[in-house]
Amino acid sequence: RHFQGEPGRLKDQRVLVTAGGTLERIDPVRYITNDSSGKMGYAIAEEAVRMGAAVTLVSGPSALPAPNGVEMVRVQSALDMREAVLSRLDTSDLVIKAAAVADYRPAVVAEQKIKKKSDSLTLELIKNPDILQEIGTLKKHQFVIGFAAETERLDEHALDKLNRKNCDLIVGNNVSQAGAGFSGDTNVVSIYDRNGLVEALPIQSKKDVARKLLELAADRMPTIAG
Ligand code: CTP
Ligand code: CA
Repeated sequence: RHFQGEPGRLKDQRVLVTAGGTLERIDPVRYITNDSSGKMGYAIAEEAVRMGAAVTLVSGPSALPAPNGVEMVRVQSALDMREAVLSRLDTSDLVIKAAAVADYRPAVVAEQKIKKKSDSLTLELIKNPDILQEIGTLKKHQFVIGFAAETERLDEHALDKLNRKNCDLIVGNNVSQAGAGFSGDTNVVSIYDRNGLVEALPIQSKKDVARKLLELAADRMPTIAG
């Protein structure tokens, strides 16, 4: 049995992490994004390095510095993130999708700044591809971890996402709970596998959540000897 976050636990494992929100352009000076800070994904990347993995971090716009020892890939839109992730899927053993990908993007990106005209303006949005769902369809040996950001019925929605997107684990995040969610340094999560709840973690630092999540993954990964 290994102790929590053992330094060599992910040795020789190639870990691909996504973090942050995506930025969806409206015109040259405007965009749509969300409140994701990137802190959870960056903490996962940092802990994975500490546990000996070769880590690539695909990040949407974030003010956070690149963690030491991580290969950093900075992207803006969901389409950019999809390309960055899918092109690295074959060479990854563990994929962790902590990013808050925008569900929709403007149907057209205006080439010039949109001028103020009538009293109302309707912006047409179209659905972005679901990157995690695509990974779930394409995956072979990869161990895949998704996130589920919810404001209600966490168990039900998280398990539904795990099954729909063919993940091995899913991290359910009640983003309306105190001490959880986007901007803070702590999180409150429940982790599920195909059989249901694995662990409901009490409030703790994102670093500790990251460590526990990686440990649970290592316990279950076929490419790691117990
Ligand atoms: N995700 C993704 N691509 C998208 C949307 C989401 O890869 N276009 C991933 C996220 O990175 C996360 C998981 O899917 O790991 C769940 O994201 P979430 O927003 O909670 O779920 P959705 O499936 O988008 O459903 P909804 O927002 O309607 O709850
Ligand atoms: Ca979503």
